[in-house]
Amino acid sequence: MEPKVLKSMMRIASQHTLKIVNNALKPYNVQSPPIKIQSVTNLVDVDYNTPTLLQVFNQNKDKKTKQAFGLADIKALCNKVIESFNPDDKDQAIEKLGVTDQGFLTIKLKQQVIEDEINNILKNGLNYPTEKKQKIAVDFSSPNIAKEMHVGHLRPTIIGESICRIFEFQNHEVLRINHLGDWGTQFGMLIAYMKMKYPNYLNEPTDLSDLTIFYKESKKLFDENPEFKKTAQLTVVDLQSGNPECRKAWEIFCEISRREYTKIYKRLDTTLEEFGESFYNDKIPAVIQDLKDAGLLVESDGAQCVFIEKFKNQPPLFIVKKDGGYGYDSTDMACIKYRLKTLNCNRLVYITDVGQQPHFDYIIATAEKIGWHVPPTTRAEHMCFGIVQGEDGKRFRTRSSETVKLKDLLDEARDRALEKIKERISGSSKEEGAEEDEEEKENKGNITKLSEEEYLDAAEKMGMAAIKYYDLRQNRISNYNFSYDKMLDTKGNTAVYLLYSYARLCSIIRKSGLQAEELQKIIQTQGFKISHPQERIIASLLIKFPDVLDQVTEDLAINRLTDYMYDLACKVAEGYRKYHINNSEDKLTRILLIEATRQILEKCFYLVGIKPLEKI
Ligand code: ARG
Repeated sequence: MEPKVLKSMMRIASQHTLKIVNNALKPYNVQSPPIKIQSVTNLVDVDYNTPTLLQVFNQNKDKKTKQAFGLADIKALCNKVIESFNPDDKDQAIEKLGVTDQGFLTIKLKQQVIEDEINNILKNGLNYPTEKKQKIAVDFSSPNIAKEMHVGHLRPTIIGESICRIFEFQNHEVLRINHLGDWGTQFGMLIAYMKMKYPNYLNEPTDLSDLTIFYKESKKLFDENPEFKKTAQLTVVDLQSGNPECRKAWEIFCEISRREYTKIYKRLDTTLEEFGESFYNDKIPAVIQDLKDAGLLVESDGAQCVFIEKFKNQPPLFIVKKDGGYGYDSTDMACIKYRLKTLNCNRLVYITDVGQQPHFDYIIATAEKIGWHVPPTTRAEHMCFGIVQGEDGKRFRTRSSETVKLKDLLDEARDRALEKIKERISGSSKEEGAEEDEEEKENKGNITKLSEEEYLDAAEKMGMAAIKYYDLRQNRISNYNFSYDKMLDTKGNTAVYLLYSYARLCSIIRKSGLQAEELQKIIQTQGFKISHPQERIIASLLIKFPDVLDQVTEDLAINRLTDYMYDLACKVAEGYRKYHINNSEDKLTRILLIEATRQILEKCFYLVGIKPLEKI
């Protein structure tokens, strides 16, 4: 029986092409390297292409004649392969090979192969478990306690949640770790400050709800008053060595912060497990010993450091600071050991801004030197990202030049989404030149039927979706400019466009009048059949979904997935225009293609952390 999981068509195309190529090369006693495949999405006659034959040609080129295998150029080699190919072979997934102007071999899959896979999706749903299950620790979001979550925490939270969902979809075991900044200097400052201002604050109820205000005041003192600074530093040492009073204060502060960021996580639909910096405090001494035993610890100016030759132009790792305390570096060394040696993770992903790249390079390299991290058996990556800027390309600030609080930012996105939805109902948002067809009218009609509560719920969902999608579609490493207008645009590569596209698919299915059971019956009896070139284009894109995920888990570029979603929505929209997908005679099987598209888009939404709206 066929396994009920999705296939990687890219892998199949690559393997089948390799066989054909090797068969053609047999007379020359040459074997091709694995075929590198890339997806082609706009042509009816091509699903993939590969540059690998270029490599074969160049490797076998005669220096003088510039020929390989007696063939004048790469095109001649491709043609030789094409001639040797027999599409009638039953086990062959490929229907046709061709060659591009640059000498890439092009590959077209058999229609039957595509149809079978679409039917597989419709019958069995979307399952794509990996062959090699891994335990992956994703370190993300990780705000610092006592400081309010601000726009800087937006990206790691959004990116982290999405990459976790993608790994989970592939059936990996994922640890969603919140490496909270819940230890260190800021607590010394806060505790010392509270003691000074409100000596009885631990026993008398003091309104601590706005911790950030206390934090700011204590930080000011810390920076301006050397005596206070000293007290604060001593208080940190007290805390780290377990002084009960400090410990109690610390717990209170953590709890207050936790209440605040839990609200944000809920709105962003993010799940995390707390393993804050404090968790590693008692694990640090053993790590210091390990480093010492490995001969990696060097005294430098009173501190204990790790120096690594290839990073000689940057500061070393500070394992024990001059004052005997531990800091960010010490904690991260204990943390990486714990994840690799105690939790036995196969892969570690750290998500922070690019500014911390030197830090993680150093931590990962040190773990490798000491033998905890053994690539390629274990894998450790800093999944870094660029900063969020204002529309002017400068640092993102409020009008009064303050850092933007995450809560305010989310509220504004929701309010603006509400406006969008209202505009849509009143008809003022009709896209230029777009003829409003039946579905579109019905969709709009649906929103007026929403209750006030549903209305607000839709706005919240759309607002969060807009922010997330706009973030994820960026090249992760670049900075980007935050723009509500752009992210809430109804046209182009935005969540709003995709949400409308999705609602439209739902509406077509609803309008067909087919109930779920009837749909299943058609799937079982008739199955999907391609009957129009545009359908082939859409179907060919649908079956590439697993390949997109494979690429994302490899290079951690989630924008590949958002680009895929947008591409899919555009191709379907083209389908409505070109051949009235919804009111043609082949309606029944066409509905199946719409349903498969809807399912994939729904899954993609989930993977990027978006809740789709069926009616809008
Ligand atoms: N709390 C840190 C910050 O806000 C991020 C922590 C990242 N994770 C880690 N293991 N160092 O910059």
